[in-house]
Amino acid sequence: MKKVGKKRSTNGRTSKARAQGRGAAQAAVADLAPELVELLYQALETEEGGVLIYRAALECVQNQDLRAEWEEYLEQTERHVEVMNALFEQLGLDTERDEPGRQVVREIGTALVRSMKLARAKGTPEAAELAACEAVVLAETKDHLNWSLLGELSKDLQGDAGEAIATAVEEVEDEEDEHLYHSQGWTRELWLDNLGLAAELPPVEEAEHVESEEEAVKARKKAKKRKQAKARR
Ligand SMILES: [Fe+2]
Ligand SMILES: [Fe+2]
Repeated sequence: MKKVGKKRSTNGRTSKARAQGRGAAQAAVADLAPELVELLYQALETEEGGVLIYRAALECVQNQDLRAEWEEYLEQTERHVEVMNALFEQLGLDTERDEPGRQVVREIGTALVRSMKLARAKGTPEAAELAACEAVVLAETKDHLNWSLLGELSKDLQGDAGEAIATAVEEVEDEEDEHLYHSQGWTRELWLDNLGLAAELPPVEEAEHVESEEEAVKARKKAKKRKQAKARR
């Protein structure tokens, strides 16, 4: 198996290394594999594009609870951009560098913003809201993937770079779980509602404060049973 990081030393970080602070982190960046650097650039671009996607989605939203949710997610995503910028500085990476993978992420983000503008210009308000829900889920799927991968990598990386990434992951990862699972719930239930089928709004993921994939699966099963029982009455 190809390794992109070096194992964290078993005796941990020494007080001398701690005292070296940012300088030590920058020294560690020389050891970062190009694949990890690529992921970091994609993650930065995902967060920057996420801000634009939430702004466009807020132009399309109809449901007031979902509006409040997306306003909160926009604020969190703006903070994630700041977290990424701080991480890049700690790692000695240039936030302006335009990697090919970063360009791919930007193209997808631009297309998602365009899709919402198109839906708003040509469709019904309900259709524009659904287009926005889907754009958010697609963007958050990538965002969630980036942070899960960074979480896995940080466990495997030695030294200050590993610690800097782990600290950023700690700050962001729980919010990314909520962004993805709650947005999936809103998309599903708003689609059901749009089709004239029984819908639960706000979705069960929201009502039960789902924060992981396992919790999302459990909550959906419970909601499905509840709907079936209601239909039998
Ligand atoms: Fe994010
Ligand atoms: Fe997110």
